[in-house]
Amino acid sequence: EKRAIPVEEGLDHSIKLLGEGYQFILNRRKSFESNIFETRLLAQKAICLTGKEGAQLFYDNDKFKREGAAPGRVQKTLFGVGGVQGLDGEAHHHRKGMFMSIMSKEARAEVSKLTYQYWDRAAAEWEQKDSVILYEEAKKILTQVACDWVGVPLKEDEVEERAEQLGDMFESAAAVGPKHWKGRRSRTNAEEWMEELVEMVRREDVKVSKEKALYTFSMHRDLKGNLLEADVVAVELLNLLRPTVAISVYIAFTGLAVHQHADKAEAVTSGDPDKLRNFVQEVRRFYPFFPFTAALVKEDFEWNGYLFEKDTLTLLDLYGTCHHPEEWENPDLFQPERFETWDGSPFDFIPQGGGEFDIGHRCAGEWITVDIMQASLDYLVNKMMYDLPEQDLTFSFTQIPSLPESKIVMSDVKRV
Ligand code: HEM
Repeated sequence: EKRAIPVEEGLDHSIKLLGEGYQFILNRRKSFESNIFETRLLAQKAICLTGKEGAQLFYDNDKFKREGAAPGRVQKTLFGVGGVQGLDGEAHHHRKGMFMSIMSKEARAEVSKLTYQYWDRAAAEWEQKDSVILYEEAKKILTQVACDWVGVPLKEDEVEERAEQLGDMFESAAAVGPKHWKGRRSRTNAEEWMEELVEMVRREDVKVSKEKALYTFSMHRDLKGNLLEADVVAVELLNLLRPTVAISVYIAFTGLAVHQHADKAEAVTSGDPDKLRNFVQEVRRFYPFFPFTAALVKEDFEWNGYLFEKDTLTLLDLYGTCHHPEEWENPDLFQPERFETWDGSPFDFIPQGGGEFDIGHRCAGEWITVDIMQASLDYLVNKMMYDLPEQDLTFSFTQIPSLPESKIVMSDVKRV
């Protein structure tokens, strides 16, 4: 039986999206009492989906495509042009394979080891200072981890500049005005940096191990057997570096969670990997980071009686699905122990997207993210001592990405 999708009346609600941020879809899910509704954003009709069933639909490749789904201004800062995010079908599967092939067990162990190493190097310096800002420091640590892992040469005196550049790209993702333009400039600079390296690798002007992503991406061939354009390789290498540095957002929230949920953090002082992992998973579920993801309807279809028309913009609520009362008990409480019994569904715990890695657009770096967060949490709780001086620990639901206002100031750092 045919049903009408609940519609939010009005010409355009982009301003409300800016005003409500992470809670835009969640607020309407509540007021419409519906996991599907229609609104108007960026001067077009948009269907919003939330919850496990909605996620399952959204990740059906027969029904949705990505080409043309991301707004131009997001491509010019966050994603870049020509990368895996905008591909569909076989082309996507092949390119995604390039990403997933570097996410091996060995690579994960290496990234984890690098994370401990660079935390330790940084913490030794922090001991000499009165105080440091965790978020800013984490960006520098992760810039070094990422470059080391990917095979990108990075001089000691370059770290700060590159960390800022990589940070600008995700800090400006939803920005307007000067911050947006700074993000664009940083992307242009970083793409030039990567493109030059790719050309050097291809000319064998720089020595890089064949195991490193810098090498495998530079030499990757598309379905027709051709090397990728150097500017596309640059975009894909930045699809490794940028989001690895973005884990600093989660590290700042981890610092906040350790402080505000000290009773829960107590459980990880044993260093038990399962406990560390559950805490990290709850940080990813609980705190806002990526609000929603977008696709376009491939061909007209009907779902549960609702009509989806070709080319309609469709948004899947990532934040709201992680806080959906139909999927989570007490969704607004911070309870790492909930992951002791979570069934591992690919559709309810989707802070980094859902569905499958290989044929879907689920985040290629999800395992690495968890590994880096786990090492960072362990370091923070078990390898160092510090105080949090008086500061503003609130965080916003309208700034994207959100961060604790103070970015977590730590004083009197001592390694133990
Ligand atoms: C895709 C979130 C870390 C690489 C995505 C998507 C989200 C996401 C929401 C899109 C899912 C979709 O549209 O269906 C995050 C968050 C991270 C993170 C919150 C934490 C900082 C990483 C890391 C890497 C990475 C560390 C690589 C080292 C990618 C790539 C894609 C992607 C390549 C595109 C996948 C595709 O289109 O098939 N991520 N990510 N991400 N992420 Fe992440």
